Amino acid sequence: MAHPLLLDSLTVRGLTARNRLWLPPMCMYSVTAEDGRPSNWHVLHYGTRAQGGFGTIIVEASAVTPEGRLSPNDLGLWDDAQVDGHRRIVEAIHAGGALAGVQLGHGGRKAGTPPWRPDVEGARSGTLPGWELVAPSAAPYPGHAMPRALATEEIADSVRAFADAARRAVAAGYDVIELHGAHGYLIHQFLSPLSNTRTDAYGGSPEGRRRFPLEVVAAVREAIGDDTVLDIRLSATDWAEGGLTGEDTAELSRQLVRAGVDVLHVSTGGNVPGKVPVGPGYQVPFAAQVKQAVAGLTTPGGGQAQVVAVGIIDSGLQAEQILVAGLADAVAAGRAALRDPYLPVRWSHELGVNDWRAAHLPVQYWRGAWR
Ligand SMILES: Cc1cc2nc3c(=O)[nH]c(=O)nc-3n(C[C@H](O)[C@H](O)[C@H](O)COP(=O)(O)O)c2cc1C
Repeated sequence: MAHPLLLDSLTVRGLTARNRLWLPPMCMYSVTAEDGRPSNWHVLHYGTRAQGGFGTIIVEASAVTPEGRLSPNDLGLWDDAQVDGHRRIVEAIHAGGALAGVQLGHGGRKAGTPPWRPDVEGARSGTLPGWELVAPSAAPYPGHAMPRALATEEIADSVRAFADAARRAVAAGYDVIELHGAHGYLIHQFLSPLSNTRTDAYGGSPEGRRRFPLEVVAAVREAIGDDTVLDIRLSATDWAEGGLTGEDTAELSRQLVRAGVDVLHVSTGGNVPGKVPVGPGYQVPFAAQVKQAVAGLTTPGGGQAQVVAVGIIDSGLQAEQILVAGLADAVAAGRAALRDPYLPVRWSHELGVNDWRAAHLPVQYWRGAWR
């Protein structure tokens, strides 16, 4: 095979990732002191995957407010005291040769759950007692506590919380800021008519429902300046009658790019329980739809908007085919990288590349190359 596209570098806003393989954000639920501060676990976990050869690593959802955490053991960026720990993660990722990103999130009506780990009783079922939930509307996610609808004037505080967290992320050294606009969390809750029944300026029409996400994008773009990549993760479809569709997301994506987004990371679902046709590459068609929608649009940073596909992309060949077909600009592999931090090295081999220097993979490990 000719030099695989997967191993081509990708430059956005002057920042170059050595290849087109991303580690998507995955909560580790490992902040035992419940103070949102990263620990050695996080430094090792992300550093190892950088050494394994990922081009871009997105650190797990880090909450912009304490009540926005999905669980008490989530990372945070709501407090300056959390910056040092994030800086250690960034340094480990950079030492491994990858770009470092972080996902900024707020769980809204789905916040405050027990961690999703097999060693924790009642994992991810319902809301922890005493956790105050806020959301666009007073409508609970099934099985979770009733959230309080944000007052119109409180919405500006949420926008500011995202911008302040983004400023801290830049201070920690992150190259990429990813907004969590997917999986039924606060930004997605505003976007979807299934969770947003507001009658003020932040609801009532696609335009109203997009107001909060677009305000967050504008505020974060201003907070991070011109040298940091802004990425947003979206659930392209709610997989439910009356919910968001691929067409809605294609149109929204164009608005997001005009507002300052450089990268769209396309996932699906999570806002309402439903039947999802999960299978290999099942979300890739939605990434392709977004890619087509933003093709030809120039970002305010002067480049082309990039699209990342994710969801059961489990082999190098599958990843390469997605890129060669032009369905996305980069691919992310999550769970496969939990069982194998050296996935990029393995996929390079699968694609016939054992020259780790040419592939910009860690040369320190080259003597371990297949022969
Ligand atoms: C343990 C775990 C934690 C996750 N945490 C997050 C998260 O913090 N933010 C997010 O957007 N998605 C999260 N996800 C979803 C992944 O980023 C990814 O989209 C999903 O696993 C599908 O990709 P895959 O088939 O390659 O694993 C998580 C997934 C797993 C398995």
